[in-house]
Amino acid sequence: MPAKINKVVIPAAGLGTRFLPATKAQPKEMLPLVDKPAIQYVVEEAVGAGLTDILIITGRGKRTIEDHFDRSFELEYYLERSGKIEDLEEVRSIAQLGEIHYLRQGEPLGLGHAVLAAKRHVNSKPFAVMLADDIMDEGSKTLNEMLTVFGKYGRSVVALMEVSENEISSYGAVGVSPISKNLFSIRSVVEKPLPNEAPSCFAIMGRYIFTPEIFDALEKITPGRNGEIQLTDAIGSLIEQQEVIGYVLNTKRYDVGNKSDYLRATIEIALKREDLGDSMRTVLRQLAQEQALLNPQSNDLNVLNLPQSAPGSDRVND
Ligand code: G1P
Repeated sequence: MPAKINKVVIPAAGLGTRFLPATKAQPKEMLPLVDKPAIQYVVEEAVGAGLTDILIITGRGKRTIEDHFDRSFELEYYLERSGKIEDLEEVRSIAQLGEIHYLRQGEPLGLGHAVLAAKRHVNSKPFAVMLADDIMDEGSKTLNEMLTVFGKYGRSVVALMEVSENEISSYGAVGVSPISKNLFSIRSVVEKPLPNEAPSCFAIMGRYIFTPEIFDALEKITPGRNGEIQLTDAIGSLIEQQEVIGYVLNTKRYDVGNKSDYLRATIEIALKREDLGDSMRTVLRQLAQEQALLNPQSNDLNVLNLPQSAPGSDRVND
């Protein structure tokens, strides 16, 4: 029976250039989805799967991530004094999410380099890696299921999703042979392939369980795509010595490093919220009507297929 995993590494040292100017002076991981920073969704997902020893790999300009997961006595004092007890409890609970450690990457030399920085903390045990740009649907059991697969095979497990031919060049692509319905043995990998280089349309999503041998692989490889030390290349080296399993996601996932997916995630999360769902549906319906008036040929209203909201609920909440 393989060792139980409780460590997770969350690389958060990237510069966030796709979101400039918003990320000029704040980490992209702190951009909110509705009212919660993206990285908090990822930390909550980790804790929900029992991964309570969390190492966040940071870099310069990322200090607000540490502040966010720390106590904030001044704010707590103010909330307590003004009787905002629900807010107070929420603010306090964030500081109690797991045991969070931080390590600075120094130079941003790539995702593989960030994971390698965790070697000493991980200490030769299997561990998980979660990318903060990939947000899973709330309540997703992805990590639990990947941990179960690891428990059965004792081998590294990588989350996969089938994407279109146009999209595959944005991801790590893998060549696979089937094991069972949603499990595959990974045979080859290419980071961000050109269209004719992709071994299949199976793309790596940002959830991984690794055996500690990934560190030997990371130490061995040379810079790859964009001159960076790529985690995908280390997976390519690892499959030469032990099997790596691909687990196909069965949940919705958002790439919040991509602007339109970020906006979509924000809207979908708001639609599911009790305090915002109705007003958000009203906003969307109004927008769809405006769009339909502007572009009478388009079928926007039909496409949105929005249910009617309850009477009197068309005021937008703050
Ligand atoms: C990273 C990985 C890539 C993976 C992707 C998933 O790329 O390098 O293999 O498919 O995350 O989101 P990034 O999106 O950081 O460029």
